Amino acid sequence: MKVFIDSADLDEIKQAYEWGIADGVTTNPSLMKKAVDKRKNINLKQYLNQILETAKGTPVSLEVTETSAKGMITQGKKLYKLFNPIANNVYIKIPVNPAFKDSDKTHFAGIEAIKALTKANIPVNCTLIFTPEQALLAAKAGAAFVSPFAGRIDDFIQTNNKIKFNKTDYFPMEGKEKGKVTLNDNGIVSGIDLVAQCVEILEGYKTEVLAASLRNTRQVREAALVGADISTLPFSVIKDMLKHSKTYQGMKNFTKDIVTDYVKLTK
Ligand code: G3P
Repeated sequence: MKVFIDSADLDEIKQAYEWGIADGVTTNPSLMKKAVDKRKNINLKQYLNQILETAKGTPVSLEVTETSAKGMITQGKKLYKLFNPIANNVYIKIPVNPAFKDSDKTHFAGIEAIKALTKANIPVNCTLIFTPEQALLAAKAGAAFVSPFAGRIDDFIQTNNKIKFNKTDYFPMEGKEKGKVTLNDNGIVSGIDLVAQCVEILEGYKTEVLAASLRNTRQVREAALVGADISTLPFSVIKDMLKHSKTYQGMKNFTKDIVTDYVKLTK
């Protein structure tokens, strides 16, 4: 499984690439706002160029902010034209369905945009996937990546069932039971179950499943186990991936036992 960093923070992105563990970058409007708010007088064009150069040779997703098909296609093409020449690694992020509510008439605008951008040879990362059927239609329209939002499905299932939780809490991939029923959202029992169903349904498609909205290390492990092609991770989760108390204890013990003559050999 490839590991992307889910961040628009240049310092975090640089660090992840220096460690040699990043295979790509994903951004979204909220991550962009967080990064811009943290910095004063930012030249956004130059700042994004630096992100693209840091990630040279690996995909960087830049999201559209328009919500009509025409708007997303035009903006997606402009973003690509403006930024892809920097390092030839831009993917345009398109919401699977930009409607705000059921009665809106824009449900297929995302699909139209995916189709048009793909036809123009612009790779698309289709975002805000909450059902395997959304992933299927995005793949059929040509999306290079589909991004199921695992953590947000866990939030949704718990909120709907009045379960209190913290954002980074582990939610079991097999779901939670209440009475004798496994809690679910239209048959999806957890965020990792959503990822697993997308993986299964998209077998035979060129589209890669990019597990997003992962909030803890166990979810990362499970995303890999169910066959996600990519996981995009916040920097905090990447940092947590190396932690274990037995590793610290082992280090203390080994350090205590060091033979001085052995160390001298390398001095
Ligand atoms: O890549 C999607 C991600 O940024 C959303 O994460 O934790 O806000 O649901 P989260």
